[in-house]
Amino acid sequence: MLFVLFILILFTLLSGYIYTKCPFLTTTLKADISYASYYSQFRDVSHPADGWKPVGHTIDEQNLLHDMSIVVAAWSENAEDNIPTVPCLSADGHLLVLSVSASRIRYGVSLTFVTVYPTDMKKVLPKNISSHPLSSNQQSLWCIFSDGSVTPVYTYDSKYGNDRASLLDCPLSQFANDQLWKLNQTIRVYLASTTTKDRKIPILKAFVKVPVVSITSSNSSQESFTLCTSPLHNKAKYLVQWIEFHRLVGFSKFIIYNTTDTDDYLSTIVNIYTQKYPGLVDVVQWNFSTLGLVDVLPTRYFQTEALHDCLIRYGDQSEWLGMLDLDEYIVPLPPYETIVDYVHANFGRRIIGSINLWSQFFCTKNASAYTSEENDTNRLTIERFTFSARNRHKSGREKYLYRPRFVLYLSIHHQIVGLSKQHPSEKHITLAHYATMSRLRTMPGCGTNGHVEDTSIRNRFVNRLKTAIATLMNKH
Ligand SMILES: *[C@@H]1O[C@H](CO)[C@@H](O)[C@H](O)[C@H]1NC(C)=O
Ligand SMILES: *[C@@H]1O[C@H](CO)[C@@H](O)[C@H](O)[C@H]1NC(C)=O
Ligand SMILES: *[C@@H]1O[C@H](CO)[C@@H](O)[C@H](O)[C@H]1NC(C)=O
Ligand SMILES: *[C@@H]1O[C@H](CO)[C@@H](O)[C@H](O)[C@H]1NC(C)=O
Ligand SMILES: *[C@@H]1O[C@H](CO)[C@@H](O)[C@H](O)[C@H]1NC(C)=O
Ligand SMILES: *[C@@H]1O[C@H](CO)[C@@H](O)[C@H](O)[C@H]1NC(C)=O
Ligand SMILES: *[C@@H]1O[C@H](CO)[C@@H](O)[C@H](O)[C@H]1NC(C)=O
Repeated sequence: MLFVLFILILFTLLSGYIYTKCPFLTTTLKADISYASYYSQFRDVSHPADGWKPVGHTIDEQNLLHDMSIVVAAWSENAEDNIPTVPCLSADGHLLVLSVSASRIRYGVSLTFVTVYPTDMKKVLPKNISSHPLSSNQQSLWCIFSDGSVTPVYTYDSKYGNDRASLLDCPLSQFANDQLWKLNQTIRVYLASTTTKDRKIPILKAFVKVPVVSITSSNSSQESFTLCTSPLHNKAKYLVQWIEFHRLVGFSKFIIYNTTDTDDYLSTIVNIYTQKYPGLVDVVQWNFSTLGLVDVLPTRYFQTEALHDCLIRYGDQSEWLGMLDLDEYIVPLPPYETIVDYVHANFGRRIIGSINLWSQFFCTKNASAYTSEENDTNRLTIERFTFSARNRHKSGREKYLYRPRFVLYLSIHHQIVGLSKQHPSEKHITLAHYATMSRLRTMPGCGTNGHVEDTSIRNRFVNRLKTAIATLMNKH
């Protein structure tokens, strides 16, 4: 009886602003506490920028959490529970969360929230949205599952140069674990904060499901290699050849990060793949424009966050995983025909965190103009460009193939930057980077004096690639 009364009172208190989606488009945030005190409290403290922190367990927090968990457990599936839904700014304005996914590569079983790095939030959000960024080590966060079970959130802010993202991880409760992995259900999770002691309801909500493949996970004896695209923005015309090339060299799963490709072409391609090769290509919506979010580097479309999202979302079902732009091609060099051959021959079962791939820039013959062959976008990219820089570019443009579960292990020890990287022999593998694929530009080593004619990739792959594309596009 008392309990029901408590819930009623709570709903009455909240009834002023009922919404279920990300609210900041229509509703101004109601901040009912003074954030200034928080800032002054932390201003002079020098916090380590990176790292895991233990989560406090004060009696106050426990009581607050206990109350919140009772409230959450009482909400039904479709309750108008007044909590913004991911992707969104949290109701307390502290966090900007872009995605959530479940995986078995962190904490055994956990949820990971991918969030915008706190110092970037003001730049990323529309100007008229008030936010109160707090770094993760200034917060005390918790996951509350729909049965009321609670687990602590562990936080990690990663920052190397402009590549910044924050991760929040909470272990799954037994209930959530069973729902997801045994029963194949969508779970409802609430992110709660005890940072602000007078906030009595959670700050965010999300619905999470795991990709079906990982449940039915079949060919486990096979090393699986997954490639995610960098967030894709109107580049779909280069997609098929990129996927088919990487299929030829041994990749078996492709994830398209779709920003705003509203033209039918991307959908057409995705439909063809779904019919021809079910399960080969997935699309992850990575569009935040209806929220008015603009990346600090606008042409990146939250690429750093997407990289982490890809790692967590697909890490379970991939021995190896990478994220590339569509002008980047991973090319095993003879005698290796596939990436699988290359990895087996060079690393066997040794545990390594990643393989470091240096760009080999492909250039135009003449830096200030395309030749007619290079102009012709009906030709394949590997056919168009046959001049390359003489040497690999070794400073700052590298991409990686990761082993997802060892990236976790190493990140716990603050070793993201220094994780066990393997620098492959230049004779074994290359990252062909067709930097002038969609616009003329000069890349390091591509000056007219420096670059050399290099037709080897074209000659090895162009016929097989054309056949593969024809097979895909063939109706039967
Ligand atoms: C912010 O400004 C945009 C247009 O500039 C408007 O559409 C939106 O409703 C505004 N949001 C708030 C919370 O005022
Ligand atoms: C999980 O759910 C999906 C669709 O919701 C279904 O296609 C699949 O067969 C289910 N898998 C299991 C193991 O129940
Ligand atoms: C499993 O691997 C074998 C051997 O490579 C392959 O022929 C088969 O198609 C694979 N099955 C699935 C479901 O991927
Ligand atoms: C890509 O995203 C846009 C919205 O941003 C959507 O309209 C389109 O259907 C998506 N394409 C695919 C293939 O999912
Ligand atoms: C992204 O696109 C999908 C499909 O068009 C749409 O349902 C969703 O609301 C969009 N999300 C955001 C945050 O803009
Ligand atoms: C490069 O192209 C520009 C513009 O077409 C032309 O003026 C120049 O002569 C070309 N240089 C060479 C070395 O072909
Ligand atoms: C290549 O395309 C550009 C722009 O479309 C054009 O100006 C140029 O003449 C073309 N070059 C050749 C060699 O056809």
